[in-house]
Amino acid sequence: MADIDQWTITKAVLSAQQGCTNPRLKEILDNLVTHLHDFAREVRLTESEWQAGIQFLTEVGRFTDHQRQEFILLSDTLGLSTLVTAQNNCKPESFTESTVLGPFFVEDAPNCNNGDDIANGARGEPCFVTGTVKGNDGEAIADAHIAVWQSDEDGFYDVQRPELRRLQARANLRSLSDGRFYFRSIVAAPYPIPSDGPVGKMLSALGRHPWRPAHMHFMITAPGYQPLITHIFRFKGPYLDSDAVFGVRLSLIVDWERHDAGSILADGTSSSTAFYTLNYDFKLFRAGASAIRTEQKLPEGSDVHAFTHTGLPSRVLFGVDTLSRLSEELGHLRVSRALVVCTAGRRAEGEAIVRRLGRQAAGLFAGALMHVPIEVTREARTYARQVDADCIVAIGGGSTIGLGKAIALETELPLLAIPTTYAGSEMTPIYGITERGIKSTGADPRVLPKTVIYDPSLTRGLSIANSITSGINAIAHAAEGLYARDASPITMLMAEEGIRALIVSLPLIHRDAGDITARTQALHGAWLCGSVLGQVGMSLHHKLCHILGGSFGLPHAATHAVILPHALAYNYRHALPAMRRMSRVMHGEAPPAFLQRFAATNGAATSLGQLGFQEADIAPAADLALANPYWNPRPLEHAAIVRLLRRAFAGLPPELD
Ligand code: BEZ
Ligand code: FE
Repeated sequence: MADIDQWTITKAVLSAQQGCTNPRLKEILDNLVTHLHDFAREVRLTESEWQAGIQFLTEVGRFTDHQRQEFILLSDTLGLSTLVTAQNNCKPESFTESTVLGPFFVEDAPNCNNGDDIANGARGEPCFVTGTVKGNDGEAIADAHIAVWQSDEDGFYDVQRPELRRLQARANLRSLSDGRFYFRSIVAAPYPIPSDGPVGKMLSALGRHPWRPAHMHFMITAPGYQPLITHIFRFKGPYLDSDAVFGVRLSLIVDWERHDAGSILADGTSSSTAFYTLNYDFKLFRAGASAIRTEQKLPEGSDVHAFTHTGLPSRVLFGVDTLSRLSEELGHLRVSRALVVCTAGRRAEGEAIVRRLGRQAAGLFAGALMHVPIEVTREARTYARQVDADCIVAIGGGSTIGLGKAIALETELPLLAIPTTYAGSEMTPIYGITERGIKSTGADPRVLPKTVIYDPSLTRGLSIANSITSGINAIAHAAEGLYARDASPITMLMAEEGIRALIVSLPLIHRDAGDITARTQALHGAWLCGSVLGQVGMSLHHKLCHILGGSFGLPHAATHAVILPHALAYNYRHALPAMRRMSRVMHGEAPPAFLQRFAATNGAATSLGQLGFQEADIAPAADLALANPYWNPRPLEHAAIVRLLRRAFAGLPPELD
């Protein structure tokens, strides 16, 4: 026992605890001591720091009484409450997620009936709340006990207003026989957690704010089911991505829809004031159903479902100055007479390639045009035969690579692509040719480039605006790839990394178009997003963009930037695993809101109106979207698509419809 030092102390304490007869207590305290000691050794805790720590905990205790629980605030702000809640409430994906209880729940809230106004005098804009309580197999749970509590419009709970003589904006009610519940209340506001105590001081010392996003608390219990403690968050408004207590879950964010004065309420009457509606269907987990044991739950995003993965053959030369390996690459492909294709605008670059290739160049065709008109395609094919080309080298963006593919389709010549934008079509076997104004598309392995040379220095000339919009276009491919029916773990990895790379690099390019490190990152992202596009099917977002581009003449890449936040909002609740993956590279924020802000702060358009779309075309565009739909995680509903397009037209924030 003698001679204890900072290294032997841990063992000494553990052996002193050895006689503990409560095994769980022993396990907890043994681990606590071990980790505390390791912590003190690791940070080389000084005596004065240790005293400050004790002083801090004493203050936390002093601030705590039956009204104020500073220890809960401490646990919440350090993330411990969320950790404990999360690891004890693992449920399969479709069940309502749990989140922190918080300190403002009270036992003796008023009992209310469905339809009652639970605000009880609390101030705020009226909100009609509806929902259902269901179980594992969709069975209605009758008579579930539902406790609700929330803040008022000033961000205060009733228990924080000492002058109040009654409880407000909280109630206990019961679900009906079909599982439904409904009540009136007010719209909750964001609020700061109590910050006049030691936890508040700690937050400001850490440079953290004390705010929580607007939410409504629910505690739902029913015999035979696991109790559910959760919140419903309001999609609009600040702090969703920086909740002081880490309570936000993507699946718990919904729109609280605003209706103007004069709108009709659910009971058929008309409201003389503006009001909100909030609907949420809760799914409770049946106690004893094959629960997921905590230690068996895989980390988020790693749950692997059955899949078929078809990788596309591709050879990629990536990096600054890889263009210098073009000649060598033709040798690798065993070809020696390249037809170089580009647009008229890029003739100088095309000529430079011809010079670089010398005898390996058969000719230059500098006539590529947008949408690949059949006449241009025919002319280029004829020229390829005339000059006896044995391969095509396409340098440029989507139009040029599209022309390269169209030539390859008929001539079966191998295509080598040198992309100068982030659109990604070089990684796909998809081609399109326009004849008499109608673009027909197809997929054919013959058009897939044999080699792609990604040389970031070639993208330096891409304007900032085109860099941003074509980068967001690439993000859109990966975003829809994440919820594609034919996604695989590999395409999902590519999609997430592609989105991450573009989100990091596009703002840097926006600041400095010549930043070659950022250009390299962006091209890396574009390659990955293009690969996703080549391997899985696209959904509503792409359908809408094709319609807006093809039938209404809107610019392709800029349209992507406008539509993507709205299309993701449309699919939000039907593609939560994809949203979670995206949000991991968006600072935990909900992807629709993040991406709209991302587009705006990087100078891209955020409204279809800005792009010249007419309001009168909203309904015809929605008709076209439904006429020949792509598969989509959420069924296509005409009225909801019209709402989506209206919001996109006006540049409004995306709404989780
Ligand atoms: C709440 O949501 O009521 C809450 C949660 C944690 C800390 C403070 C407040
Ligand atoms: Fe709260």
